[in-house]
Amino acid sequence: MTSLDRYLTIDDLKQAARRRVPKQFFDYADSGAWTEQTYRANEEDFAKITLRQRVAVNLENRNLGSEMLGQKVSMPVAIAPVGSTGMQSPDGEIKAARAAEKAGIPFTLSTMAICSIEDVAENTSTPFWFQLYVMRDRPFVHRLIDRARAAKCSALVITMDLQILGQRHKDIRNGLLVPPKFTPKFMFEIARKPGWALGMLGTKRRTFRNIHGHVTEATNLQSLTQWTRKQFDLTLNWNDIAWIKERFGGKVIVKGVLDPEDAQRAIAAGADGIIVSNHGGRQLDGAPSTIRVLPEIVDAVGSKTEVFMDGGIRSGQDVIKALALGAKGTFIGRAMNYGLGAGGEAGVTRALDIIRAEMDTSMALMGERDIRNIGPHNVYSNDLVKRQGY
Ligand code: GLV
Repeated sequence: MTSLDRYLTIDDLKQAARRRVPKQFFDYADSGAWTEQTYRANEEDFAKITLRQRVAVNLENRNLGSEMLGQKVSMPVAIAPVGSTGMQSPDGEIKAARAAEKAGIPFTLSTMAICSIEDVAENTSTPFWFQLYVMRDRPFVHRLIDRARAAKCSALVITMDLQILGQRHKDIRNGLLVPPKFTPKFMFEIARKPGWALGMLGTKRRTFRNIHGHVTEATNLQSLTQWTRKQFDLTLNWNDIAWIKERFGGKVIVKGVLDPEDAQRAIAAGADGIIVSNHGGRQLDGAPSTIRVLPEIVDAVGSKTEVFMDGGIRSGQDVIKALALGAKGTFIGRAMNYGLGAGGEAGVTRALDIIRAEMDTSMALMGERDIRNIGPHNVYSNDLVKRQGY
């Protein structure tokens, strides 16, 4: 038994991360916008779905493997892009990408990552996915896409729901800065988290390395809020998908879709897949949970494209519920971050192992042997969403 084996749930990893990661960075990941109503709804609505138990089924030779975007995955779970992951643990994106590689699932690197595209490419051997924010500085965006292509990223995830940043009160109250300023408050904080501080001293990766040194105008990169206000493109629209896709020359996934009409537009614009997402409840507070809107989006476009979802997944059972309501695959952000904060690369592996084991046991107790067969028949029709046909 390794020390990480004592963490039995994603919530155990979350509490361990809270003890190890400086408050401003733990809070950054653990925030929703304004009242955090949507952030909470993402988790709470999963709990409203009940699973159908079936017995006396042969449970030998079970399979969790599937495909996402034509790529074989050992389970239908990908790592979501999360900003500042390298502040949860030194070189965090490299560690998470390695854990994903070992687990046989896709890793998505955020534009707002600490480790750069090149850092991750040099330290992994499986192609990863890159998440793109479209900024006003178009030559910079062109270079970013070219860098992702040069690093052999196998898909581009275009985030459409962050032209303006939702307000997360904790970031303002904590005075979030990357890299952090050595204020007395922060010194007190790292005195209580020496492991984190020592690790950070041992790496050169402490700022937004996809951006730092790559923008022509001198920019203060310390505040994500400032950078977003100045740089994120308010005119981003469906016509932008075409030129981005052409420049990248590979598959693109559109992330941030919460409405069936937008899903249709994304596909018409050339998306090869969509991620039903409310940005983990970090953008439009008051928007519905992703699991709530998933079925209507699947009904609208599921026959034409792969529909993925993120938001609120804290267990293998949540993954199964998303699949039952029509998702082809899921993305985990916070669950990965908590594992990383709790135990670095091994912590991410632990998070993935927990989710995998929960999926396997639940699937078996539901009388299913193959994750690809999970569907509406596995949940009760009087649950959260009434779906046609069951
Ligand atoms: C950036 O993607 C954020 O949600 O902070």
